Amino acid sequence: MLNTTNLKTMTLRPPPLAMYIHIPWCSKKCPYCDFNSHESLKKIPERKYVNALVADIKTDLDFVQGRKLSSIFFGGGTPSLFTGASISTIIKFAEQLVGFTDDVEITLEANPESVTLQKLQDFCKAGVNRISIGVQTFNNQQLNLLGRLHSSYSAIEAIEMAKSAGINRINIDLMYGLKAQNVSNALKDLQFAISTGVEHISWYQLTIEKNTMFFNNPPKLPDCRVISEIQDYGSQLLANHGYEQYEISSFARERKQCTHNQNYWEFGDYIGIGAGAHGKITLHNEQTLLRTVRTRQPNDYLKQKNKGEKKSMSVEVSQRPLEFMMNALRLKNGVPLKYFSERTGLHESYISKIVFNLKEAGLLVDTEKQLLTTPLGFRFLDTILGRFVRSGDLS
Ligand SMILES: C[S@@+](CC[C@H](N)C(=O)[O-])C[C@H]1O[C@@H](n2cnc3c(N)ncnc32)[C@H](O)[C@@H]1O
Ligand code: SF4
Repeated sequence: MLNTTNLKTMTLRPPPLAMYIHIPWCSKKCPYCDFNSHESLKKIPERKYVNALVADIKTDLDFVQGRKLSSIFFGGGTPSLFTGASISTIIKFAEQLVGFTDDVEITLEANPESVTLQKLQDFCKAGVNRISIGVQTFNNQQLNLLGRLHSSYSAIEAIEMAKSAGINRINIDLMYGLKAQNVSNALKDLQFAISTGVEHISWYQLTIEKNTMFFNNPPKLPDCRVISEIQDYGSQLLANHGYEQYEISSFARERKQCTHNQNYWEFGDYIGIGAGAHGKITLHNEQTLLRTVRTRQPNDYLKQKNKGEKKSMSVEVSQRPLEFMMNALRLKNGVPLKYFSERTGLHESYISKIVFNLKEAGLLVDTEKQLLTTPLGFRFLDTILGRFVRSGDLS
């Protein structure tokens, strides 16, 4: 159980700062997707939305506290539906109002059917230096079943165009565990992804989420034995080709990890702007941790009277260990132990008994300075996290 009796707090230090920018529209809603993404039935109010994003940045300037942005992530929805000019305006405001670190990473999510060489060049000129292409699978039949608008050919074309446009930091999103997929089909897909030579692959298991078409009409998915084999052989295949698994679903060539996501998992701070965007901020003067969220529905978000409006909730002390671990332990190499006290404001003694027991159980590695799972712990992350639940008495 968490040790709340002798609660010693530490000084919360603002960690690195990132910015997440949500673009909520798509050409078509995919049957498996429960993200805040909406089919654009009418013309997207792009200019109005860009103005709203700038208003969000302005109202969140108190959160900056002297830091510069180490990353920006345009996520969706489909950010590649926006023009290079809009993306450039947003990046310029972020740079003028907040500022960038020398090695700032700026990622934009793109759907293969919505990019052209010109558009990718415009994004690159605007400052985008990393692109995340939603390929999902290179199998045309599966793409059809997933309701996607692109083909295997246009996915490859999008990757090649991104390279030609000068964006050499490329991620592709790929899913496995698709309808009737067997181990050999899944590995073939992965092999195809590897052969494109991209530096980063996000490899997600297809999950069936509430409020999606697949939830009401689920496809027949492979059983857990097949899934487990796909995961084992797949991560081995990726490793053999130089892609190190650094997080549950993330594989990267050496030193090519995604700075933005790494910051989430290291319990860093991020300003969340746009419809439904979430933020997490450490306030040094108040010694508080805040979570923020903006109006979810794009139309309501655009209609709000007080531009830049958001809801803020403080993260209670009792919630912080679980929130920290839910992120940090997703990383295969874990995080420095000192991040726990610096980023939750709690003394290490708050969790020392649980950590000791988890080491005894062979779920955490017995090191002094790093919090990290053993291979067994990585497999049974939920068991570990259960120990950090406030009311749990599992130690
Ligand atoms: C929200 S999408 C945005 C990117 C872009 N619109 C696209 O779809 O290509 C980000 C990624 O989440 C993944 N994703 C979405 N729904 C999923 C689900 N139900 N199961 C697994 N992965 C999912 C897909 O791989 C997708 O590329
Ligand atoms: S998966 Fe991507 S393209 Fe499909 S609805 Fe979700 S955000 Fe839009």
